[in-house]
Amino acid sequence: MCGITGYTGLNQAGPILLEGLRRLEYRGYDSAGIAIQSERKADADGSESAGSSIKMLKATGKVSHLVEKFEAEPDFKGVCGIGHTRWATHGVPSDTNAHPHLSADGKFAVVHNGIIENFAEIREELQKYGIEFKSETDTEVIVQLLAYNYKGNFKKALMKTIARLTGSYAIGVISDEHPGTIFAAKQASPLIIGIGIGENYFASDITALVSNTKNVIDLDDGEVAEITPDEVKVFDHTGKEIEKPIRHINWDIASAEKSGYDHFMLKEIMEQPQALKATIEPRIKDEEIIFEELNIDMKKFNRVHITACGSAYHAGCVGRGIIESLCKIPVEAEVASELRYRDPVMDEKTLVIVISQSGETADTIAAMKECKYKGATVLAIVNVVGSSIAKLADYCLYTWAGPEIAVATTKGYTTQVVLLAMFAVWAAGELKTISHGAYTTMVKDIMRLPERAQRALDLNSRVKKMADKYNDNQSLFFIGRNMDYAVALEGSLKLKEISYLHSEAYAAGELKHGTIALIEPGRLVVALCCYEKLLDKTISNIQQVKARGARVLAVAHEGNRSIFAEADDVLSVPVTDPLLVPVIEIIPLQLFAYYVALKNGCDIDKPKNLAKSVTVE
Ligand code: F6R
Repeated sequence: MCGITGYTGLNQAGPILLEGLRRLEYRGYDSAGIAIQSERKADADGSESAGSSIKMLKATGKVSHLVEKFEAEPDFKGVCGIGHTRWATHGVPSDTNAHPHLSADGKFAVVHNGIIENFAEIREELQKYGIEFKSETDTEVIVQLLAYNYKGNFKKALMKTIARLTGSYAIGVISDEHPGTIFAAKQASPLIIGIGIGENYFASDITALVSNTKNVIDLDDGEVAEITPDEVKVFDHTGKEIEKPIRHINWDIASAEKSGYDHFMLKEIMEQPQALKATIEPRIKDEEIIFEELNIDMKKFNRVHITACGSAYHAGCVGRGIIESLCKIPVEAEVASELRYRDPVMDEKTLVIVISQSGETADTIAAMKECKYKGATVLAIVNVVGSSIAKLADYCLYTWAGPEIAVATTKGYTTQVVLLAMFAVWAAGELKTISHGAYTTMVKDIMRLPERAQRALDLNSRVKKMADKYNDNQSLFFIGRNMDYAVALEGSLKLKEISYLHSEAYAAGELKHGTIALIEPGRLVVALCCYEKLLDKTISNIQQVKARGARVLAVAHEGNRSIFAEADDVLSVPVTDPLLVPVIEIIPLQLFAYYVALKNGCDIDKPKNLAKSVTVE
């Protein structure tokens, strides 16, 4: 939620900041703004002009609107600045509420990602001193308090300011009196510093920086960085300077580009075979799953609890089935926003698996903290390296899917599912709840997933035709049983979040307990039929909805002839082990959501009201 970036060097900051914001736009896109330290104009007598050197540009809407404003302002020049793209939390999307925010004296500007929980109290206090606030945001208190605390020492004033803040923040600040210097600070929101030659940067994540540098410093919670063109100094919460390692990023700019695709979502759907390979191959040696990162004694646990949000939770629903089936251990899956407030019963014999693409989801972080507090061991399945969840967990398995930029997750989800499956097989091997033969068969099936995913992608043009045929449905259902039901949840979410059509996922057997009342002539029901153990049962449910006039689009295994007699249309995917079905079966549903949204003219990579990394509650 919200993307922030900053630059200091010898080049013009404006274009660099705007390019960074364009790449960060997936984090929020209701307004954007930049602030720079402009070159001061000398007066006729040679003295510097009065007033602040800080200049700002803001625009409601997408970053492209800000770019238009910037292009109309040839004098907007300066070599040090900060930028922000917003997902509104406090105050409507507007130019006034857009960041950066300026102190009342115009001497400081701030960009912020996160939520200041005690902003109302600080604002009231500052208002008593006569300080006037312009915006409705929580962020403005940071910059007003900073200006109030400033007595000539920028770092001291900032440290004093952040010590007053509660909540989450990643901030970048510039000052009129310190040309070329940016201060950045972080608490529970992501922030990295990019190291260049004669220029340095900061950003919410690496996508904003990768075209400029691949060397980064990960700022940790409570730390503050002083960034100048030639140097980056990092201080701990007491103000003491500390050494920080430089991390080298090994993915290239193409990973953050559309590379010829119309949308990141389509690119990321198509990348799934490679992403799955990256998750699987380094961890399999001689048909054995090796997790070098895991030094866990599985015998210690008597139950597993999986928690996550959105699609990651849907991956968790698949994981529940696989782990329970192979490890013979009770497994629960629960959305993190519920778990965090439920006072769950768990102890040191509980293994909690948290799943998150971004590694920054606020509800997931809160749930994992609650579980740790209760004594559980936490294993995280995360994509973004060095993210908060990866750092907070006792153990972390990275999906290594590469950057995911489209707001709707695709390769993030499938790599989570495959990593959960690998974990289940590995754990079953440790617990000896699986025979050697079954273990080897599962490993071989996992290794075949990238090739099967590729074959599922070959359905692309047929799925497009299905989207043309069925996109007129304003409300539809996804049904399935067991693994198919878990996929129905994800297929339905994918469709609704990017096409804005109403859709619901139902356990197929549950329809007749009420929801079947909504089935009427012409209603589309997407029936997931790959979990063959329960195929006959699902077919009965298909017959029930057909009898009430529904049209049925089925996803079934290649070679399943019986389904053709039941459904109006069938998408056939490669046969795979029942426990691995979701990895393949979801692919045509991702494509279906994509093409329906395309047909309906939706903004696919940036669906309305959403943002990629949900760092607020
Ligand atoms: C849907 C989607 C979201 C995320 C959810 C969790 O396409 O992307 O539902 O899955 O917000 O995000 P992460 O995985 O980053 O914790």
